[in-house]
Amino acid sequence: MNSSSGRSAAKRQLSRRSVLQGIGFGVSALAFGLSARNKALAAEVAAAKKGEGVFWRESTMDVLTAIHTRRSYRSFTGAPVKPQDMQEILSAGMGAPSAKDARPWHFVVLETEKSLELIERSIPLMSYAAKAGAALLVCVDIVKDPGEPLAYVSGAVCCQNMWLALTGLGYGAVWVNVFPEEQRMNAWKELAKLPAHVVPLCLMVIGVPDVRLPAENRFDPKLVHQETW
Ligand SMILES: Cc1cc2nc3c(=O)[nH]c(=O)nc-3n(C[C@H](O)[C@H](O)[C@H](O)COP(=O)(O)O)c2cc1C
Repeated sequence: MNSSSGRSAAKRQLSRRSVLQGIGFGVSALAFGLSARNKALAAEVAAAKKGEGVFWRESTMDVLTAIHTRRSYRSFTGAPVKPQDMQEILSAGMGAPSAKDARPWHFVVLETEKSLELIERSIPLMSYAAKAGAALLVCVDIVKDPGEPLAYVSGAVCCQNMWLALTGLGYGAVWVNVFPEEQRMNAWKELAKLPAHVVPLCLMVIGVPDVRLPAENRFDPKLVHQETW
């Protein structure tokens, strides 16, 4: 090896080392940033516990497990949804993000045998509703700014929050369309006595499942596009 090729090999090694050092520094800065954020969050939770009390309970299920084990359940044991769990599910829904922070949602809680049987009679293929613990008629206020169609999008985000929360609490649920089916919308507007500016989006039928559906790995790299399609 002559002296100039020796020098450039040394330069390459040096620049490789500085890139690696740079990455190492970046990773530790990120870890430091994350642990500082986690500490700040833990302090906020502790303060909330000491003060007015937190408005959620700690779940033993982590968020990714809830996401990946959530399924649509259409078969239930008949066990009720406990009142404190229903409160938790609704609180999760109301904690959802929404366009313009409008929080356009309203919920009609259906828990009586009569109401659950009404669902069974009013919508085809709903024979399982009578054995659900409860159902939520999730509605959106379409007059609140920004109105339609973002009210529906925010409503859907709220439903997903509730779906994940109830999964974490050991329940199962299914989303049953009301919107945009005109006939169902009119029927539920009347049954639930909704005001004119409130649209029924869906029924979240909730209960204790009598079977457990498997988690599915739906990750598909073909759906991911880098920078452009
Ligand atoms: C916007 C939306 C509308 C849906 N409508 C219905 C419905 O009317 N009836 C029903 O049984 N399931 C309905 N589902 C549930 C889907 O069929 C279900 O999420 C899908 O088949 C995937 O299965 P999984 O939820 O078990 O992962 C709906 C889900 C979403 C998100």
